[in-house]
Amino acid sequence: MCGIVGYVGHRQALGVVVEGLRRMEYRGYDSSGVAVLDGHGHTAVDRKAGRLANLEAELAGAPAESFVGTTGMGHTRWATHGKPTDRNAHPHQDSTGTVSVVHNGIIENFAALRTELEAAGVELTSDTDSESAAHLVAREYRQGPSAGDFPGAVRAVCRRLEGAYTLVFTHSDHAGTIVAARRSTPLVVGVGDGETFVASDVSAFIEHTREAVELGQDQVVVITADGYEVTDFEGVPATTRPFHVDWDLAAAEKGGYDYFMLKEIQEQPAAVADTLRGHLVDGRIVLDEQRLTDQDLRDVDKVFVVACGSAYHSGLLAKYAIEHWTRLPVEVELASEFRYRDPVLGRSTLVVAISQSGETADTLEAVRHAKEQKAKVLAICNTNGSQIPREADAVLYTRAGPEIGVASTKAFLAQLTANYLLGLALAQARGTKYTDEVVREFAELEAMPDAVARVLETVEPVRALARELKDSRAVLFLGRHVGYPVALEGALKLKELAYMHAEGFAAGELKHGPIALIEEGLPVIVVMPSPKGRALLHSKMVSNIREIQARGARTVVIAEEGDETVRPFADHLIEIPAVSTLLQPLVSTVPLQVFAAELAQARGYDVDKPRNLAKSVTVE
Ligand code: F6R
Repeated sequence: MCGIVGYVGHRQALGVVVEGLRRMEYRGYDSSGVAVLDGHGHTAVDRKAGRLANLEAELAGAPAESFVGTTGMGHTRWATHGKPTDRNAHPHQDSTGTVSVVHNGIIENFAALRTELEAAGVELTSDTDSESAAHLVAREYRQGPSAGDFPGAVRAVCRRLEGAYTLVFTHSDHAGTIVAARRSTPLVVGVGDGETFVASDVSAFIEHTREAVELGQDQVVVITADGYEVTDFEGVPATTRPFHVDWDLAAAEKGGYDYFMLKEIQEQPAAVADTLRGHLVDGRIVLDEQRLTDQDLRDVDKVFVVACGSAYHSGLLAKYAIEHWTRLPVEVELASEFRYRDPVLGRSTLVVAISQSGETADTLEAVRHAKEQKAKVLAICNTNGSQIPREADAVLYTRAGPEIGVASTKAFLAQLTANYLLGLALAQARGTKYTDEVVREFAELEAMPDAVARVLETVEPVRALARELKDSRAVLFLGRHVGYPVALEGALKLKELAYMHAEGFAAGELKHGPIALIEEGLPVIVVMPSPKGRALLHSKMVSNIREIQARGARTVVIAEEGDETVRPFADHLIEIPAVSTLLQPLVSTVPLQVFAAELAQARGYDVDKPRNLAKSVTVE
């Protein structure tokens, strides 16, 4: 997830572009950069690692004449390929500095394209997947069938790119024109009076115009000061959807939602899809930064997962998949407890550190402790270049994009996804899963973004229920098997957002104490296993629901579509799509997030900034 803006019009482009980037910094803040065309065959570029303020400081020191021009573009980066450094910051250029590009997304076949370019003598100057697009367009423009045709060259290159991308190109000889393309990542056009914009979202330009056009899948747009033209990748004119933006600026950044968290909940299908993207290559699961050999992975005889909060819950869920797929023992431990109890670690132990921020002090210290004991460390992290992946031996990045709401939502689902990938990678290395089984499991994972999207389409009754229960004294959550960590996560969300007493229990433990809490009208949310996949567990859960209902609890049951046996015992039934047992948390967590956010809103709390909490906890 990165922020992109492009401008052609009558104003100086630099100011418009930098202002647009400021509005989109929430989409990524690892680095930023701008390109401005002077109209005389030169493109000035500046790019800088770190927050936009770093770039602005540098631009302030640049000679006044260096960024003069009315065509320009900019980028604020959330790193996926390559560390967040100056040289990996966008825009990237071809070797002659003629074609410039900014990119949001992941070009999956970039390794092959890079090899092809290097074989042709092109020197790539960054570690990104994006730079190759600039070289390819420059080459196509020079000598391909689209020679001399700038939009044609872009279309020809887009036809060769695999993955997800929004790409915006400029060409030094075509000041006054910007060509942009989109596949699976966002791009909107802003249509002003004598000026036109392209951007990742409308917040970048609604100061200047509220007339916008949404681009469809696999479309290319050419913008000039006078307007825009849209085609498909073959050059056939395409239809688009114009719309009027009536949000204010703050709402625009949040995509029209009241809170970032609500937007981030909606972004979960993309977070899962992006985290999977590019990780199955020729039937093999590949990690992002692999400083461990296949032999290292084969030698692993025990896995420890260390993490905090929601990341810890994702770790609890990892245990089910990794043990089932690899037959390796997995221990999951709160990072803050791990090193103080002298855990048994050695060279063949794999410690998996899960952290959205990559900066959580407890998790970082656990990583250091593991390394002192000579264990191998693999980080699952959402923040490229942060401390935990830097100190780890291997990394699997979750590609949820920046999470602004303090409570973890899309990062959590992305962590689950990465955990599954790790489980498959270990199973493959150890030979407990054959390639065809891995490919099948991966295909099931690839179906999950749609399943999550379906849950999101049907959560209105969950919202209504949350409003109805806003004055409850407490809420209990029950689950068995993978439903148990989901219950813990549901309870954590409600505690931290709605400041309400909430507890998650393993349903089988109920009779060993917690059942004493059940009283008339107490809401109890139950996560049901699949009646088909886990028939025995299912029947035991039905008994548990009957026990609590008999004692007056108000039962809210999350169950697979078509699970009729549970209906008579559910005061409220929330249906989720039927998916395989191990993957069910990807869908069953979503209604619990929506429930907590809505209940917190109904109680009048700020769901993005719950009291006493911070997004990254850098103290122990
Ligand atoms: C809960 C939440 C926290 C984090 C925890 C770990 O919604 O967000 O519990 O999961 O503080 O943070 P990271 O993943 O950054 O290490």
